[in-house]
Amino acid sequence: MSPRKKLAAGNWKMNGLAAALDEVSQLIKAHPEPGCEILLCPPATLLSRLSERAAASAVATGGQDCHAEIAGAHTGDVSAEMLIDAGASHVIVGHSERRADHGETDATVRAKASAAMAAGLSPVICCGETLAQREAGQTLDVIAAQLQASVPDDAGGALVVAYEPVWAIGSGKIAGPAEITEVHNFIRARLSARFGHDVAQAVRLLYGGSVKADNARAIFSLPDVDGALVGGASLRAADFSPIISALEASV
Ligand code: PGA
Repeated sequence: MSPRKKLAAGNWKMNGLAAALDEVSQLIKAHPEPGCEILLCPPATLLSRLSERAAASAVATGGQDCHAEIAGAHTGDVSAEMLIDAGASHVIVGHSERRADHGETDATVRAKASAAMAAGLSPVICCGETLAQREAGQTLDVIAAQLQASVPDDAGGALVVAYEPVWAIGSGKIAGPAEITEVHNFIRARLSARFGHDVAQAVRLLYGGSVKADNARAIFSLPDVDGALVGGASLRAADFSPIISALEASV
């Protein structure tokens, strides 16, 4: 049995108005004592209301991004301290959509992850190759470079790493079992070489990219998959709940 607590994380991206809070209530009702951790990362506008709604439950909340500085003249940005103030325990950093849409580099991601840790948040650092990189046989090189440059030197066991092949996000395509296993084993080995066995064993490795109720069980049966980072299928309780149940059953 894995020493790590499994984690079902939902990334709502730029989706969700106040009415979406009812989905959270339904989710909490469906999983009063979950056999895994549940994390919801709503848009910043909903974070504190969602945190309040989830306060007496086992559902944790997180941001989708944070600035590398604690405060200052950065119009439109949100700091790690603000996320904590709004009830968050985690923050996603380095999602491929932010890397693509906002030109975030590995160095930016690392600075954000450091700021998150300094404030007391657990960072969920995303990595993953594009289709062109996979087809060129560069997947492991890309992952190695992203890990090396995006993960801070003082990262500890509270770190979560999400492997999200860019071509699998929102596409309905998922990486095959051999592909997921190869990359997850590789990430664990790289973390172990850099941070030591104990830290590497404590880090949760999530798979992300088109995880749905009908493929979740197969993904969660793979070794070294500690859960999932789920986009589209985390928006509605009816879609996310069976994914959580599949993860609970895999423990
Ligand atoms: P998806 O997104 O589940 O909609 O593919 C996953 C993600 O980007 O985190």
